[in-house]
Amino acid sequence: MTAKLMVELGERSYPIHIGEGLLDEAELFRAHVTGRTAAIVTNETVAPLYAQRLAATLERAGAACLRIALPDGEAFKTWETLNRIFDALLAAQADRRTVLVALGGGVVGDLTGFAAATYQRGIAHVQVPTTLLAQVDSSVGGKTAINHPLGKNMIGAFHQPSAVVVDTATLASLPPREYVAGLAEVVKYGAIHDVKFLDWIEDQADLLARRDAGALAHAIRRSCEIKAAIVAQDERESGVRALLNFGHTFGHAIESAAGYGKWLHGEAVAAGMAMAARFSVRQGRARSSEADRLVALLARFGLPVRPPDFDRRVWLEYMGRDKKNEAGRITLVLLERLGHAVVAKDTSMPELEAFLGSP
Ligand code: NAD
Ligand code: GLY
Repeated sequence: MTAKLMVELGERSYPIHIGEGLLDEAELFRAHVTGRTAAIVTNETVAPLYAQRLAATLERAGAACLRIALPDGEAFKTWETLNRIFDALLAAQADRRTVLVALGGGVVGDLTGFAAATYQRGIAHVQVPTTLLAQVDSSVGGKTAINHPLGKNMIGAFHQPSAVVVDTATLASLPPREYVAGLAEVVKYGAIHDVKFLDWIEDQADLLARRDAGALAHAIRRSCEIKAAIVAQDERESGVRALLNFGHTFGHAIESAAGYGKWLHGEAVAAGMAMAARFSVRQGRARSSEADRLVALLARFGLPVRPPDFDRRVWLEYMGRDKKNEAGRITLVLLERLGHAVVAKDTSMPELEAFLGSP
């Protein structure tokens, strides 16, 4: 069964289609590609799996197809890789009606979205996410970026897609470690926004771990519903959208300081959520039983819940460059209770430093 949700952003509203086998559904793409060049941007791992099928679908939907395969990995989310997209578009004389179609995980999605935001001052793009993490999070909401050696996602733009097409069947080929990393973002939505969803994730944890189709369909749909509602309220993150960064201030520091690709994004977010929950307890905001419950759920999926052993100065250096910070003060997303997170701009530096000494 196919579900259709909307991200309500006025004239920039767009659908999220979720279902099995949607890679073959030309009708879902037709309005976005007919009579245009569709450039499929993917990577060398995903291309042999799904690019041919998607190209055939886009052609049936009336597009001329171009394919751009990038190197695979977080370490390639860089200017150099972005430039390879521009090189290919310019070599093909791609015009402003060209639509980019991101086929892959969050790395391909973020690079493609940023290329679409900037090529000839902005062209359309469609997201076709193929990792769990991208299906529940990165393909929705219009954040696009590349990494800088000094900080994660530091260069980018807000640029909404014109559609998101989630083919849940593509998850069958996802390696186990990547699948589990995506579950971290699913847990995040329950933790910050919806304790009933968190209860459900706990109940269905074994089915989710086994990639049960029914459980997955619900997890993806509910995650996208929550993300779509938050993005509709606060597209450019001046308020409530920051809650989606629960665990990310610690997590981004882990990814950057360890070297991009060593920790998967979802793994770093899991360890970061565990840290944020424990810090919430230290600050007297949340009960320790709530933090313990969250940590136990993450650990049950096999996600890391202990941070790497960085020096306190390393933590502070990378956390000091987080995009949520204001006037040199570190902003953190903390828990009041499960299902209810808050943005804390008043982090006491001595308390944070003490915590980072023994997290
Ligand atoms: P990823 O894009 O690196 O994909 C993970 C791995 O799975 C890659 O090796 C990829 O080639 C492979 N892969 C993808 N689909 C596959 C499939 N169906 N079968 C087999 N292999 C497949 O990682 P990710 O976890 O999808 O995304 C992480 C990135 O997303 C990070 O850069 C993070 O910053 C970004 N992100 C962005 C947002 C946003 O709002 N824009 C939100 C969350 C995360
Ligand atoms: N992943 C955080 C956001 O989209 O805002």
